[in-house]
Amino acid sequence: MKTIVFYGSPARQGQTKDLLDVLLAELEGEIKFVDCYHADIAPCKDCRYCFTKRGCAIKDGMQELYDDIDCCDAVVIATPMHFGIMSAPMFSVFTRLQSYWSNRNIRHNNADRPNPKYGALLVTTGGKWVNMELLIQGVSEFAFDHMEAECIGAVFAYQTDTNPAADNDKAKEKARYLGCRLSELCRGKT
Ligand SMILES: Cc1cc2nc3c(=O)[nH]c(=O)nc-3n(C[C@H](O)[C@H](O)[C@H](O)COP(=O)(O)O)c2cc1C
Repeated sequence: MKTIVFYGSPARQGQTKDLLDVLLAELEGEIKFVDCYHADIAPCKDCRYCFTKRGCAIKDGMQELYDDIDCCDAVVIATPMHFGIMSAPMFSVFTRLQSYWSNRNIRHNNADRPNPKYGALLVTTGGKWVNMELLIQGVSEFAFDHMEAECIGAVFAYQTDTNPAADNDKAKEKARYLGCRLSELCRGKT
């Protein structure tokens, strides 16, 4: 089993990592950790290379990631909420998934589609308001879909300003469950 983790926090060991560690403890196999804040990955520049060719014209850290996305069994998106969605560097990395969109909608090449896989979403938020999940879930679903990932669940650790993720037993239990479930599903897949 191979999992790619997209990590969106600027903090190497902050609220999001505390929650993510609970999920990771249950994951079997190999883990590829993508630290979006510190990765050498530029945003899509709409050059339209992918309208006619596989992959992307920008030769940076994303090149290796395309190969990982193509063959992995699971994808985890773990991010703090920033201004209602995932952090900007993570959003920027996700713009490079446009190459998969072009393949599906313009090049129509089934052989270039990534393997079907499972996904999970982890979010920490400083505050809490009605329907605050909608935007980030919608954009994450868009990213999962580009990677051919079926999202099996989401966990939100709210109000980390007053209730640190490390003390949020409900959120940690959900993260643990998602890790177990991903391992179980991927065991059945291979
Ligand atoms: C730039 C920025 C924007 C933020 N925007 C939101 C927000 O829209 N809603 C919210 O509830 N918390 C917001 N927060 C708080 C973070 O989501 C919260 O502190 C999070 O748990 C931090 O996780 P980390 O320690 O893993 O980075 C924001 C924090 C920053 C730095």
